[in-house]
Amino acid sequence: MAKIGESVISKNIEILCVCSYNNVSKSLHLFFSLTYMAILEEKFSLQKFNTFGIQCYCKIFAEAKTINDLKSIISEYCYNPLPKLVLGGGSNLLFTKNFEGVVIYPNIKGIELVKHSAESTWLRAYAGENWDNFVEFCVAKNLGGIENLSHIPGNVGGCPIQNIGAYGVEVKDVIDSVEALDIQTGDKIIFTNAECQFGYRDSIFKHGAKNKYVITAVIFKLRKQPAIILNYKDVIEELRNISEVTLSAVRQAIINIRRRKLPDPAQFGNAGSFFKNPIVSVDAFQSIQKKYPMAPSFTVDSEYVKIPAAWLIESSGWKGVREGNVGTHESQPLVIVNYANATGNEVVEFSEKINKSILQKFGVDLETEVNVI
Ligand code: EPU
Repeated sequence: MAKIGESVISKNIEILCVCSYNNVSKSLHLFFSLTYMAILEEKFSLQKFNTFGIQCYCKIFAEAKTINDLKSIISEYCYNPLPKLVLGGGSNLLFTKNFEGVVIYPNIKGIELVKHSAESTWLRAYAGENWDNFVEFCVAKNLGGIENLSHIPGNVGGCPIQNIGAYGVEVKDVIDSVEALDIQTGDKIIFTNAECQFGYRDSIFKHGAKNKYVITAVIFKLRKQPAIILNYKDVIEELRNISEVTLSAVRQAIINIRRRKLPDPAQFGNAGSFFKNPIVSVDAFQSIQKKYPMAPSFTVDSEYVKIPAAWLIESSGWKGVREGNVGTHESQPLVIVNYANATGNEVVEFSEKINKSILQKFGVDLETEVNVI
C-alpha cells in the first residue's frame, strides 16, 4: 500500500490530479481516493443497470450498500470535477452515450417500522429495495396504499423522482417524506411530502433538486384498514369474478393486466411509458375532437384534460411498428422496445419520428417521460 505523498500508479490518477492539493487533509483525501479507485474498474458496463438494456459504460461505478458507504463515496468524489449520476433501478432512463463520470449506486436495503397510529403504519424503505418486493411486503402485512402500484420495475429510491403512478394511484398519495444526502456535503436532508412538489410524473427531484441529492430512503404512510381503490376499468373487469376483493386480489389483478399489456424488460428492453400523457387545454382538445370525435380524454381540472398518448400514437399509425432494432409495443404503443441491441440514439430517433407525426396530425407535442442521458 502506498504511503501518503508517494505516487500511486493508477489509470485514474490524472482524473484526480485535476484538483491541486496543498494541505495534509487534501493529500489524505487524494490518497484515499486513489486507493479506493484502484479497486474499481475504469470502464464499467451499465447494460445490466438499465431496463432498456442499452450497452454503455461509465468511468467509475461506486456502489453503496450502507449509508456510511454512501457518505464515504460522497466525501471521496465531492472535489472531483467528473459529473455524477445517481442510478436506481435504471427503469426510467435511456443512455445515448457512455457516461464519462461517476455513477453512484445506492444499493441500500432494508424496511423498518417507523411508528404506528390507530389508522396508519409508517415504514421506512431504503433506496435499494426493489419496488415490487416492497409492495409485496406491504400487501402481505395487509398495509394498504401501494397495491395498485404492483409490478412496476425499479427501486424504492426512484419512486418519488417521477412520482410513479398506475391504476388510479400515485406514490405521492402515500409518501410521508423522503430522506437524502447532499451530493456535495454528505449532509442529511429530509423532504416533506409538500417539499417534494409532486405532480403528474414529476417532482422537485426532476427540477430544483436534480443531481443535487442521493435519495437514501422513503417513508411511507400506509393504511391499516385498507381502502381498495377500484376506479380503473381494466382492474374492475379483472376482479369481476372475485368474491372477496382483498389487497392481494388487487395486486394479483394488476400483475395479470401488466403482464398481458406491457413487455417484460427481462425479455425485451424497455422503460415503461416512453412519453407522458399530454395535458392540453379544453379548447385545444375540443378542436381535436371536431376532427376525431372518438378521441379519449381524462379531466384534469376545469381548464385542462389529459389525452392518452397511446391513443395519439395508435391513431398516427405507430402501434406495433418496428424499425430496425426498435419499435412500439404491440399492445401498448406508449412503450418503446429495444428488440435487439439497439443504441440509445436509435431509440431517440425513433421516438422523434413518432413525436413529429403526432405534432403534425394533432398539434400536440409529446413530452418524454424517460430520462434521456
Ligand atoms: N390506448 C389506445 N391504444 C392502446 C392502448 C391504450 O388508444 O393500444 C388508449 C385508450 O384510450 C386507453 C388509454 O389509452 O383507455 C389509456 O391506456 P392505459 O390504461 O394502458 O394507460 P396509459 O395512460 O397508456 C398510464 C401510465 C402507465 C400506467 C397506466 C395504468 C403514463 C405515461 N403511463 O398509461 O404507466 O401503467 O396508465 O394506470 O401515465 C409507466 O409510467 O411506465 C407506465 C406504464
